Amino acid sequence: MIQNDNHISSATTFTNLPRHVAVIMDGNGRWAKGQGEERLYGHRHGVDAVREVVRTAAEVGIEYLTIYAFSTENWGRPAAEVDGIMSLIANAILSELDTLTGAGIRMRFIGDTGSLPEKLRHSIRIAEAVEIPADKLRMTLNVALNYSARWEITEAVKQIGGSIQQGRLQPGEITPELISEHLATRGMPDPELLIRTSGEQRLSNFLLWQLSYTELYFTDTLWPEFGRDGLLAALHEYERRERRFGRL
Ligand code: IPE
Ligand code: IPE
Ligand code: MG
Repeated sequence: MIQNDNHISSATTFTNLPRHVAVIMDGNGRWAKGQGEERLYGHRHGVDAVREVVRTAAEVGIEYLTIYAFSTENWGRPAAEVDGIMSLIANAILSELDTLTGAGIRMRFIGDTGSLPEKLRHSIRIAEAVEIPADKLRMTLNVALNYSARWEITEAVKQIGGSIQQGRLQPGEITPELISEHLATRGMPDPELLIRTSGEQRLSNFLLWQLSYTELYFTDTLWPEFGRDGLLAALHEYERRERRFGRL
């Protein structure tokens, strides 16, 4: 059978699928500008793209999807944009919760969530209280909110230092595995694939420890236009990558 590229890129069966995909959702502002609109218009359409990507990821069988929604550095933006993003995320968590739960998708939040606005903390508490039985669980959606990798690693070092001070741990017992267990992603496999949209090729303080051997995928597509086809194209590109981990 002859298949053209369209068929191949929209196929949803994979011989080699990552268990964990991380995404730096970038380009909402530039997309809005291109439409002659305000930046928040781009963030609203960004939420629609998240919905589509989450649904597609669960459908193809991704177990963990980690999305970068707000970095600790993003506080440096104008207050109106920050407030708009916080409110959009708080509303989206609540409005999507039933659909996600019904689809076997649980939400987890990584980052310094304690210092987020109360309305958002309220949404997070509700979402985290949902329990999905193991036989119904299809995917974990990690939302990185007020997250930065240096914050996360600093917190881990503080905890490990505290254990040493209390005599519960010897410095010689610190291993890479122990450090991983003190990160916000504890218990999850490291991402096999990182996607960044909008043409920027940097990590912007995202998952620095966990991405040590991750395949990086950069696309010029702006986040509001990424959607289902964008994710499938990235997964097909991953399928073609050869991972060597320093070996031959
Ligand atoms: C990503 O889009 C969303 C967040 C960082 C919250 P941007 O808002 O960074 O969009 P650009 O990069 O300015 O186009
Ligand atoms: C990274 O995007 C953070 C999120 C996607 C939440 P930014 O747009 O904030 O990153 P820089 O400023 O281009 O590095
Ligand atoms: Mg950006």
